[in-house]
Amino acid sequence: MAVVAAISLGLTLLAVRLVTRPLKALTRATYEFSGGSTPLPVDIDSKDEIGELALAFNRMVERIARSQRDLEEVNARLEEMNQTLETQVEERTQALKETIRQLLEARDELQNAYAEMKQMHDVKAAFLRSASHELRTPLTAIKANIDYLCSYERDSISQDVYDMLRVVRKNINNISSMVEEILEIVRLESSQLPLRIGEVNLVGLIQECASELSMLQQEIELVMELPESLIIKGDRKRLHDLFTNLLGNAYKFTPHGGKVKVSVKMDDRSIMVEVRDTGVGIPKEHLPHIFEPFYQVTKARGGSGLGLAIVKSIVERHGGWIDVESKPGKGAAFFIWFPGELRIS
Ligand SMILES: Nc1ncnc2c1ncn2[C@@H]1O[C@H](COP(=O)(O)OP(=O)(O)OP(=O)(O)O)[C@@H](O)[C@H]1O
Ligand SMILES: [Mg+2]
Repeated sequence: MAVVAAISLGLTLLAVRLVTRPLKALTRATYEFSGGSTPLPVDIDSKDEIGELALAFNRMVERIARSQRDLEEVNARLEEMNQTLETQVEERTQALKETIRQLLEARDELQNAYAEMKQMHDVKAAFLRSASHELRTPLTAIKANIDYLCSYERDSISQDVYDMLRVVRKNINNISSMVEEILEIVRLESSQLPLRIGEVNLVGLIQECASELSMLQQEIELVMELPESLIIKGDRKRLHDLFTNLLGNAYKFTPHGGKVKVSVKMDDRSIMVEVRDTGVGIPKEHLPHIFEPFYQVTKARGGSGLGLAIVKSIVERHGGWIDVESKPGKGAAFFIWFPGELRIS
């Protein structure tokens, strides 16, 4: 009896061990997994519920392992991209630094060139100013003497001498007005000449200048596209000089049968005056120079090459700027922009 009892106890213990061993293995594996270790599959081969549990556990372990591999792959790719990005950022930063360095260098060169140009400009202005002043006095004396001879000594000089004196007087007058124009440019450019700013009817002024010139030159058609009224702040006399010079050029360089057109357009920011002609035009290589004093494409049509220099100074003294477009044989167009703030109504 005792033997039977002992055998049955032994069998029971064996059965309990057989059941608990896989359970312990599962518990250990789960415990290790929850503790942060990489889960490992359990080796349980039983065909009961514990076997199924172990199978499910192993599938989960397999899935986790696969996800981990995927994650590692993604991480590796991210790392690679990160490195490429870092290299690109580094390269771009270097390129940007280089561009900034070149820009700074160019700015310095530009500043130096501007300083040199300004110095040259100042020297030129000083020379023109003193030369004109020096010429003024002897010219006045010569003119006074010729005037005296031509009027008070008229009876004691022959007709030939009188004719010669008249030619000399004409030339002296031309030189005098050139000297005055040079002085005017220098004073306008150096802001020595104060503008007499008042209310100017720009439309009326343009019409006045255009009709003065068109009366002298009726073989050229004059077209005007002007607003009904435009009152601006400006120096009336200087603006009169400006339009007379510009329109004078348009007439001077346009053959008979041609057309001169003046138009005014405006918006909030600016007032644009355009003087366009169908005349001889200006070759491209001369365009950058035509606003310089004494510059002429050809001397054949007279004048002294000072008109456009005066025009430019007057425009700039009014806070505006001027530009030109032209093709030889196709006429020329001069554009003037005045700042919108000059507009009164
Ligand atoms: N509308 C135009 N068509 C063709 N050429 C022009 C025109 N306006 C100016 N030019 C060229 O620009 C040059 C300079 O013009 P600017 O008015 O300064 O001098 P100018 O008319 O020759 O002499 P000035 O005006 O002193 O009597 C002219 O000599 C001419 O060659
Ligand atoms: Mg001129």
